[in-house]
Amino acid sequence: MTLLKVKNIEKHYAHRPFIFKRKLAAPALQKVTFSLQEGECLGIVGQSGSGKSTLGRIILGIERPTDGEILFQGVNLYDTTSQQKKLIRRDLQAVFQNSYHSFNPKQTIFQILEEPLLNFEHFSKTERQHKVKELLNCVELESKIAEKYPSQISGGQQQRVNIARALALHPKLIILDEAISSLDMILQKHIIQLLQTLQKDLKLAYIFISHDLQATSFISDRILVMQDGQLVEEIKKDEAFKHPASLELYNAILPCHPRERTNNNTSY
Ligand SMILES: Nc1ncnc2c1ncn2[C@@H]1O[C@H](COP(=O)(O)OP(=O)(O)OP(=O)(O)O)[C@@H](O)[C@H]1O
Ligand SMILES: [Mg+2]
Repeated sequence: MTLLKVKNIEKHYAHRPFIFKRKLAAPALQKVTFSLQEGECLGIVGQSGSGKSTLGRIILGIERPTDGEILFQGVNLYDTTSQQKKLIRRDLQAVFQNSYHSFNPKQTIFQILEEPLLNFEHFSKTERQHKVKELLNCVELESKIAEKYPSQISGGQQQRVNIARALALHPKLIILDEAISSLDMILQKHIIQLLQTLQKDLKLAYIFISHDLQATSFISDRILVMQDGQLVEEIKKDEAFKHPASLELYNAILPCHPRERTNNNTSY
């Protein structure tokens, strides 16, 4: 079943002053259209500035598009009742690159994971304690980490806490924007495997935004390639790195050829 429909999304940022005359900035997104099925992982790749994060923010409702429409489970994101908005906020979660900055440094990991439960659920204190333990277990962290502060745990552990927080309300879709890019290869591999297990167990859908085509093609069922605010190509999982046209794009995006990276033993 279709979970998300993105229809003709346009995003134009305000005109930029340019010495004597005002210059019109190129649109950040142009006629972006695609859909996502329940439980599907869709990869989005493209050069820096191609519009990937803008698209993610618009789907999350952090920014409004200049034009176009987004339907989540058939509901128009920009024409909803407050009750529908609350349900969508539960079902649609995000994990960004720098997890540390998304935490309140004065909160313990327990308080960070308890927060969505306090905002959306009517659990007792004991139920919340049980749920936080379950969430930490889900992302393979020991429960004693709950007493620590974000600054007292590693980058990989912080990103796991971030994923646990996104899972707290049993969402249907998680947007991962460069969520593993700052981690080393071994941690990236662990987190990708963890995401795949969670996807299967919890029937989650992901939008996986990344510069890393190898990681993206490993986790994604389908990949959309963005260039200058437009979707220019769609690649099926097994076709990644085979299409001559895609390879041309890959070479422009990647620091080195995908085959070289595979030879370097960095495959997942
Ligand atoms: N708030 C903003 N105001 C003005 N222009 C913006 C704003 N946010 C993004 N842009 C512009 O929109 C375009 C797309 O930016 P975006 O951050 O979506 O790219 P990206 O593909 O995520 O890049 P990266 O891979 O570097 O994260 C860029 O030209 C950027 O300068
Ligand atoms: Mg970005």
